[in-house]
Amino acid sequence: MLPLFSSFSLKGIPVKNRVIMPPMVCPHYVGDDGIVSRRNLDHYRERAEGGAGIIVTEATAVTKIGRLSSYQLGIWSDDHIAGLSQIPLIVKSFGAVSLIQIHHAGLVAPEAVTDEPMGPSANPKDPRSRSLTIEEIREIKGDFIAGAIRARKAGFDGVQIHGAHGYLISQFASTYYNRREDEYGGSFEGRMRLAVEVIEGIREACGDSFLIAYRMGANSPTLEDGIEIARYLETKPIDMLDVSHGGSLVSLPRPPQDFDYNWICFSGTEVKKTVNVPVGVVNEIRTPERANWLIENGKADFVSIGRPMLADPHWVTKAQHHEEMIVSCVSCKPRCKWYVDSTECPALQIRMKERLI
Ligand SMILES: Cc1cc2nc3c(=O)[nH]c(=O)nc-3n(C[C@H](O)[C@H](O)[C@H](O)COP(=O)(O)O)c2cc1C
Repeated sequence: MLPLFSSFSLKGIPVKNRVIMPPMVCPHYVGDDGIVSRRNLDHYRERAEGGAGIIVTEATAVTKIGRLSSYQLGIWSDDHIAGLSQIPLIVKSFGAVSLIQIHHAGLVAPEAVTDEPMGPSANPKDPRSRSLTIEEIREIKGDFIAGAIRARKAGFDGVQIHGAHGYLISQFASTYYNRREDEYGGSFEGRMRLAVEVIEGIREACGDSFLIAYRMGANSPTLEDGIEIARYLETKPIDMLDVSHGGSLVSLPRPPQDFDYNWICFSGTEVKKTVNVPVGVVNEIRTPERANWLIENGKADFVSIGRPMLADPHWVTKAQHHEEMIVSCVSCKPRCKWYVDSTECPALQIRMKERLI
């Protein structure tokens, strides 16, 4: 058996293989109320059936004014619990571990969501924006913890905290966005304070057996900063790190010429070298061979397969059993069609034409 399909024990919870379906929003599946729809459930059912070891439900908003669009799953109210609880039920019935990503957009919440996006400091490029008061920061910390409590009530095995891609928690962590001089800024510990308080608050409220994963930005803003963040976070009660990008393009790490993956994946492998907590890597790992190489060579504990799993929900089982050809993601430019309308995904159209769905 290829190492990619070997099992793993995540704090005693068995994971059947090393493939993660990373969080991927499907904005057109959700209404303004953020409540789970039938389309969401069908989407996760197909992919859980497709064999991933861990399925991370998409970025789910912990407050209504912290959404990244007006059509985002929500976990800001108890009214969301009933709908959300269907997801872990489905995911676990196929033997996968079920996490949900909890999220706040901070400074990049769009106009449709709020007139006044807030973050650690005002965004000089957005006159609508302003910095959060200490009281508001504490409220947001409470929103993340309340979101995790709801996730646990809904039956998820754990949460993934969205600390990447230039959203609120990564805005706090980054010297690029955070120019505060109070306890939530200034020093490295100050910039990390919100993340740590959220982690510790969730651990206290949800108990030891509840998994806490953290999706971090490796270039925050440099890879050296990212590594410092990873090393610091592993001293806190987290169970795994997923390494993506930090949202800003100020500093892009350069992989050595003989490393045949992109800089985001490379950054994850550099983080893996420096920490003991399990690490997942991501981005443009398109084929089972490339995914397996990373596991086989100890470059990562998990690989996230995102767009390829949108293109072909059965990516993992097909990779494992070689029964059918995987329908490939063609990396639509400038952006993946799933952000707006999944029915325009070329791979989906191929699958429909070939009557694979
Ligand atoms: C349609 C779409 C939605 C996404 N939504 C999220 C999200 O909710 N949270 C997140 O952390 N990343 C999100 N991402 C990023 C993916 O999790 C993943 O990191 C990225 O697609 C790179 O991996 P890939 O090359 O395997 O697709 C999204 C990506 C796509 C294409």
